[in-house]
Amino acid sequence: MTDPVMTATALERHYDVSGGLFRKARTLKAVAGVDFKLYAGKTLAVVGESGCGKSTLARIVTMIEEPTAGALKLEGNLVVPQNWASLRKSVQIVFQDPYGSLNPRQRVGTILEEPLKINRPDMSNVECTAKAREMLGLVGLRPEHFERYPHMFSGGQRQRIAIARALMLDPKVLVLDEPVSALDLSIQSSVLNLLVDLQERLQLAYLFVSHDLSVVRHVADEVIVMYLGRAVEKGSRESIFNAPFHPYTKALLSATPQANPRLKKERIKLEGEIPSPLAIPDGCPFAPRCWKVQNKCHQQRPGLAGEAHSAACFFPENSGGTA
Ligand SMILES: Nc1ncnc2c1ncn2[C@@H]1O[C@H](COP(=O)(O)OP(=O)(O)O)[C@@H](O)[C@H]1O
Ligand SMILES: [Mg+2]
Repeated sequence: MTDPVMTATALERHYDVSGGLFRKARTLKAVAGVDFKLYAGKTLAVVGESGCGKSTLARIVTMIEEPTAGALKLEGNLVVPQNWASLRKSVQIVFQDPYGSLNPRQRVGTILEEPLKINRPDMSNVECTAKAREMLGLVGLRPEHFERYPHMFSGGQRQRIAIARALMLDPKVLVLDEPVSALDLSIQSSVLNLLVDLQERLQLAYLFVSHDLSVVRHVADEVIVMYLGRAVEKGSRESIFNAPFHPYTKALLSATPQANPRLKKERIKLEGEIPSPLAIPDGCPFAPRCWKVQNKCHQQRPGLAGEAHSAACFFPENSGGTA
């Protein structure tokens, strides 16, 4: 097996949240211990409901924020503040809302050339323009689009521009935070197909963040299911979609019938709300909503053990017994 492009070990990100006038500040653990490896040409998808820490994880991986604890390694180099500037070029991000992330006053050509102007003083203006034009073609836009402004494009085209900009510095890792969630359903698949093509052509490692399992099913090689800042299940796309272990994963899948039409199961209705990340229950964080809950689940927190397919659950589904 080839070496991973990126390795994340026990990543955590805490925020101090003010408790108001008479309450003391509390710590919110947005990401509470996540491990993964990314490989060239492969996609790791991170799924989970809103608020489970996906975007926070994306920001840590992109070196927009420092982790509170844990380690990130890029091509064997430990990421530390001293080398952020040089390493972060290799990890680029595409956000959900392409309009918000593109400067409306800049022409597309300027938007694409900007990362080169900042980071590649060795490149001449002519070289920068040539590279920007090449990238425009690579994401399926036309040469005349170079001179236009972001508002003159459709949502799908704007996301193509954002993808092109993210690729200008030849990154190794592309972090995609809900990259098609703001797009019409009819446009989503064309952007997903573009991402798949680009990955194959450029051998990019993707960290693909989405709350939408039907989207993840199209692109993922491996999947991490997150709940309240933790990975509760990890496995290949096939194992997660065809034989999920964790009751939470099963519930998510049952709420997304198009994610696996073969799993024609009853819809599992999750009881209650996600607990506040400020008051994560002791024991299994999913226990208050789980229909398989037993005493043990309230007393101990199950760990995520095993390499290939694992779930943090004492009473998993589909695994031929209890852990
Ligand atoms: N800068 C911040 N300060 C305080 N809390 C934050 C901050 N960013 C995110 N959070 C909290 O961390 C949790 C995870 O958020 P986020 O990573 O955006 O989740 P997701 O992308 O899965 O919806 C949420 O409870 C959110 O309110
Ligand atoms: Mg998010």
